Amino acid sequence: MCEDDSTERRRISVVGVLGDRWDALGERAVARVAEAELVGGGARLLRSLDGAAARGLLGSPRRGRGVDAPKVDLVLGIDHLVSELERARCRACVLASGDPGFFGIVRKLGARLGAGRLEVHPGPSSVAVAFARLGLPWDDVAVVSAHGRPLGAAADAARRALGRGARAAVLCSPGQPPEAVATAVGDVAAEGVVCSRLGCDDESVTRLSLSEIAAGRWDGLSVLVLEPARPAGGTRSLCWERMEPPAGTSVVTPAGTPVGAPAVGAGSPTPQASLRWGLADTGFAHRDGMVTKAEVRAVVLSKLGLPSGPDPVMWDVGAGSGSVGIEWARLAPSGRVIAIERDPAGAARIAANASAHGVEVGVVVGEAPEALGGLPTPAAVFVGGGGLAVLDAVLVAAPPGTPVVAAYASLDHAAQGGNRLGSLTQVAAARGVQLPGGHWRLEGTNPVFVAWGSAPGERDT
Ligand SMILES: C[S@@+](CC[C@H](N)C(=O)[O-])C[C@H]1O[C@@H](n2cnc3c(N)ncnc32)[C@H](O)[C@@H]1O
Repeated sequence: MCEDDSTERRRISVVGVLGDRWDALGERAVARVAEAELVGGGARLLRSLDGAAARGLLGSPRRGRGVDAPKVDLVLGIDHLVSELERARCRACVLASGDPGFFGIVRKLGARLGAGRLEVHPGPSSVAVAFARLGLPWDDVAVVSAHGRPLGAAADAARRALGRGARAAVLCSPGQPPEAVATAVGDVAAEGVVCSRLGCDDESVTRLSLSEIAAGRWDGLSVLVLEPARPAGGTRSLCWERMEPPAGTSVVTPAGTPVGAPAVGAGSPTPQASLRWGLADTGFAHRDGMVTKAEVRAVVLSKLGLPSGPDPVMWDVGAGSGSVGIEWARLAPSGRVIAIERDPAGAARIAANASAHGVEVGVVVGEAPEALGGLPTPAAVFVGGGGLAVLDAVLVAAPPGTPVVAAYASLDHAAQGGNRLGSLTQVAAARGVQLPGGHWRLEGTNPVFVAWGSAPGERDT
């Protein structure tokens, strides 16, 4: 037992070390390790502590302290560690990898012992160091843990990030090493970098295709960085390839380069991966101009939003070309879109448009509102066709609070849609068309009314 006062006895120091980089610890963290009367941690770090002491990095060893203190190996479980910490009530130190507050032991210790008892000395996270080795920023990376979590869920999250053009970093583990993660992520257009044993003498950083990683054997102490594959030509931007603006529209980047201009050439910087919405109308096959125009679609999508729950379902009722549902599917990769369209030829067009945009959309051929019966419960609904009877049916069928958006060309329908949903706006875009001689004129698109709100919480019976 400690002889010191109760505060000292209640405090648990949690010290993060990346690999064997004990020399990177701050003075105070070193002191906490050296003076500890009980040391907990995984077997690798407990062994590494011996090495650090032998190299003289923890000062002169004191009897019963630091490297000479009793050890609790985390292999016996967090409950065992916690009960030993409570029983000993002495200066205790728990060793953890990297930043212990980042997918680390701080969460579990805090939940059991109270955050106020922890004094955390973070080291650099393995993910930070992996991206440092690659010379890349990581503030836009999806970090996913496969450490003690289901592999399928980690792989799904990584695929979702890749699908929206972002990098993913997967924390691997001995039970779920890089080859298992790469296999689970499967056949996606991505490259991987296996960053193993960072901060150890035998650190390695290896870039390969996903199938090569899947076929290899790797150390579990790894971060697997996944990058969306670069299409031929060197750009990895989804939008650059698919996102020509509508003919004659002038969209200018802050640097003054017109989007769609051949900016991606020799010597020009590679644009960052990004996800856009309000895609060009020309990307959707349609009948007689029956496509929700890009500017209107952008507003509609903003009002629909992206539900936060798992596997949300979106209804695109009176889907026409399917453009709204297809764009929503691109933005919500874990979601499921059901397009309802009465015209069988239109339904086939929706399926073809969806496949051209790399998303799946379920198409129900039928007349709303009857065709809405039996569909999975929606988390968002767009009513692009079918009139007020369809909107009324949607407001009854959708759970309270579900975002509902409707688009109307006619003023009287718009007013009634606004009455039901509570909000109404008009979108009238004037697109720039260039004249001979470099002058511009504006060409108006048909004004469209967008009504939006939520399915009601209480209904009159
Ligand atoms: C429970 S997580 C802890 C993450 C840690 N808190 C951090 O900030 O790096 C454990 C996983 O982190 C990664 N990791 C920890 N140390 C590493 C190292 N030295 N090199 C590569 N990956 C490491 C591995 O994916 C390992 O399985």
